[in-house]
Amino acid sequence: MLQAKPLRSSVTGALAGTIRVPGDKSISHRSLMLGAVAVGETVIHGLLEGEDVLNTAAAMRLLGARAERGDDGVWRVRGVGLGGLGEPAQVLDMGNSGTAARLLMGLVASHPITCVFTGDASLNKRPMARVTGPLEQMGARFVGRSGGRLPLTVVGSDRTVPITYRLPVASAQVKSAIILCGLNTAGTTTVIEAEPTRDHTELMLRHFGATVTTERMEDGALAVSVTGQPELTGRAVVVPADPSSAAFPAVAALLRPGSELLLPGVGMNPRRTGLYDTLVEMGADIAFENRRDEAGEPVADLRVKHGPLKGIVVPADRAPSMIDEYPILAAAAACAEGTTVMLGLKELRVKESDRLAMVADGLTKCGVKVEVGADDSLTVYGTGKPPQGGATVATAMDHRIAMSFLVLGMATAEPVQVDDGAFIDTSFPGFVGLMNGVGAKIAGV
Ligand code: S3P
Repeated sequence: MLQAKPLRSSVTGALAGTIRVPGDKSISHRSLMLGAVAVGETVIHGLLEGEDVLNTAAAMRLLGARAERGDDGVWRVRGVGLGGLGEPAQVLDMGNSGTAARLLMGLVASHPITCVFTGDASLNKRPMARVTGPLEQMGARFVGRSGGRLPLTVVGSDRTVPITYRLPVASAQVKSAIILCGLNTAGTTTVIEAEPTRDHTELMLRHFGATVTTERMEDGALAVSVTGQPELTGRAVVVPADPSSAAFPAVAALLRPGSELLLPGVGMNPRRTGLYDTLVEMGADIAFENRRDEAGEPVADLRVKHGPLKGIVVPADRAPSMIDEYPILAAAAACAEGTTVMLGLKELRVKESDRLAMVADGLTKCGVKVEVGADDSLTVYGTGKPPQGGATVATAMDHRIAMSFLVLGMATAEPVQVDDGAFIDTSFPGFVGLMNGVGAKIAGV
């Protein structure tokens, strides 16, 4: 159990400089997992060394792969080959990470091994039936707590069968768990998604040599298919800076008069950039410079300058491409002129915390008028003036809630305190130091 680490953020002047945001969490998890089932060596540049990803590395080692960080900061994974994962002698502790738990459950499900998964108090509350259901259809067995929650035992099988599965929720984690089980299953496994979710699993699988196709169906849904049992070959992976982490310094710069921040090499996969589209619609001054591709993922250098923001309506169909960014968008909306309505936020209730409730409670405490709709919408009434602040906000073991309110505290009349900043290390190690380095005033309490 981490020791609680309360933090306080006070109003700042202009922010200026460059922040090298750490590597993308989604891509980092996937690079370790695919490297572990490929033949040969996978060399990973820019791996996120946050707690969540380090837990994935530890799990891959327990499953038989080698995964080590060199003195040069480069990670090297020596894979066991597809189908070669061995039974771990210990419980796989995925800490705070739903992505790690769900994707890995899919990957081990097609191996004749038994694995016990657990996590921290936040992860052990989160729903797992969304992945165990389809994986059971493929032939794996699961014994978990009520609602399929962790701690949970997976009894995998080397006789899994391919399925065609229509996602009941827009979730890249569920899609990926099924595809990763299908990877070591003879035949073609297909996942149909009505709304496009992040496609890092598909892109990286192709990079490692698998055949993954995406086809648009008559009703507009996407059918993603993987051909089972390919030969996967270890590759070089360059992990871009995480657009979900870059969101925090980006919004901070937008909020503080006179600010200009440069955020180099940020991932610009269109299935991830909903927040940036939204901020630009709100009037934000963000330049996407030097657009390029790095190892199959688009990236750009973001130059963000302060300017006034105005409230807008954010449509529900944008949720998959900015699912993790609603807390920081809500902080931006609280400082904007006019009302921002965010529609279709049901999935926020099953993240690291119930983010809809945590954001609404925290903003209310900071003197912002908000409404949560029965349809899981969030309305934030911005006045164009800095909110009052002066509150301690609960974070419920949620890194993004903590960072969002620390950014808000940079603009409020009185400081904002978060009850626990320890979980920031799950996704953005060094956050406080990097932010203070460009002018923030975040300190332990
Ligand atoms: C992720 C998918 C999203 C996102 C999470 C990372 C991934 O979760 O919230 O932070 O890497 O696939 P869902 O698939 O549950 O929406």
